[in-house]
Amino acid sequence: MVSTPIYDFVSSYARSSPSRFHVPGHKGTPLLGPEPLDLTEVTGADDLYAPEGIIAESQRVAASLFGTAATFYSAEGSSLCVRAMVRLLLDHRPCGASRTILAARNVHRSFVSAAALLDAEVTWLYPAVGDSALSCLLSPDALDRALSDLSTPPAAVWVTSPDYLGAMQDVSALAEVCHRRGTRLAVDNAHGAYLHFLTDPRHPMDLGADICCDSAHKTLPVLTGGAYLHLSRRCPADMIGDVSSALSLFGSSSPSYLILTSLDLVNAALASDLPEQLRQARDRTEGTKASMAQEGWPVCPSDPLRITLQTDGPAVARRLRDSGVVSEYADPDHVVLMVSPANSPEDHSTLLNALGRDVPPAPPLPPVPRATSVLTLREALLGPRKTVRIDDAVGCICAGISAACPPAVPPVMPGERFSEEHISLFRRFGTETVSVVP
Ligand SMILES: Cc1ncc(COP(=O)(O)O)c(C=O)c1O
Repeated sequence: MVSTPIYDFVSSYARSSPSRFHVPGHKGTPLLGPEPLDLTEVTGADDLYAPEGIIAESQRVAASLFGTAATFYSAEGSSLCVRAMVRLLLDHRPCGASRTILAARNVHRSFVSAAALLDAEVTWLYPAVGDSALSCLLSPDALDRALSDLSTPPAAVWVTSPDYLGAMQDVSALAEVCHRRGTRLAVDNAHGAYLHFLTDPRHPMDLGADICCDSAHKTLPVLTGGAYLHLSRRCPADMIGDVSSALSLFGSSSPSYLILTSLDLVNAALASDLPEQLRQARDRTEGTKASMAQEGWPVCPSDPLRITLQTDGPAVARRLRDSGVVSEYADPDHVVLMVSPANSPEDHSTLLNALGRDVPPAPPLPPVPRATSVLTLREALLGPRKTVRIDDAVGCICAGISAACPPAVPPVMPGERFSEEHISLFRRFGTETVSVVP
């Protein structure tokens, strides 16, 4: 049986009903409901950023479930893990590697802020022609060429897989290229924590990635904010030893014990019947996708627990909502539905009925514009800025992270010039103002 040391501690603390002369201010008195279990670092509760007790033990359980060299918890999502990963990749570069990170363009905004704060140099890799701006699938050959063009290996190659639309990189082939070229592969796996627990595990750590983050809360039954930072056995011991300190550089000094307890409890579920439930959810989702495709809906290839339709997103999302179905995301080109074991077979039927048979024509994807960089990410993001209307931004230098949330993938990076093509992409996504360098 898997141990749940955080849950055991907080529940026994709550049962003992001490007079709490410590934060949080609610003192365990329920207003919302879960306050009795919401603790701080009292004696015995360990410290997320210097774990030696119950948190260290729970993280070891998670590492053994995921088969990693080490797994660390975040109570502030993958956003915190991404920042810590960039720090670790820069500080623990392979011998002879530069401070450059070669990144597939569809990064989450947390990567951009981390690179700016830590003054990383980023070389962007663009998607193939015809891809969505939200995806950036790299071929191993293209990555090999990009790496061979550099005079020294980069600190790391950074990819997002699965991305917001569910597109998945060929992580094992990319990892092989990275390792042959003397660098590391870092994967933003915010959307794929569950992938390790399928019969054919496709989690980045199963496929050779060196380091990755998972938003446990996105695909597992974990409270919002719960995430993992995983390291593989290829990572040196001093890098693993530095993870908690890298997390503490950006994280709150008051991590939520409710979130940590939720991560702790999901270990027990992953050690018992959750993997089987995930497999059943995967099979059900495959069936639902097949029914949709049969009706003529353009179902995009995606990770197993996601349904992505290339369609008039807002119209389809409205149609679904009118029948009581709420999608994860909709833009002019896509609607995205995220599935988990908590979606019942009835949910799937409701979805299929709500979608119906009236399939609107699939919109052609707008081209992904290339951008020229004039300032570094740091200079542009941390320097002076002003807000302008999107129509007045052509030729201006971007000074902010201009990305709707979700999916929080910036089409123009800080330091790059807005072109006409960027502006039409922003209009398409409904952005009205952007930050520019004055
Ligand atoms: C690809 C990707 N990376 C990172 C994040 C940040 O994750 P979190 O919300 O857990 O901080 C997100 C959030 O949507 C994301 O889509």
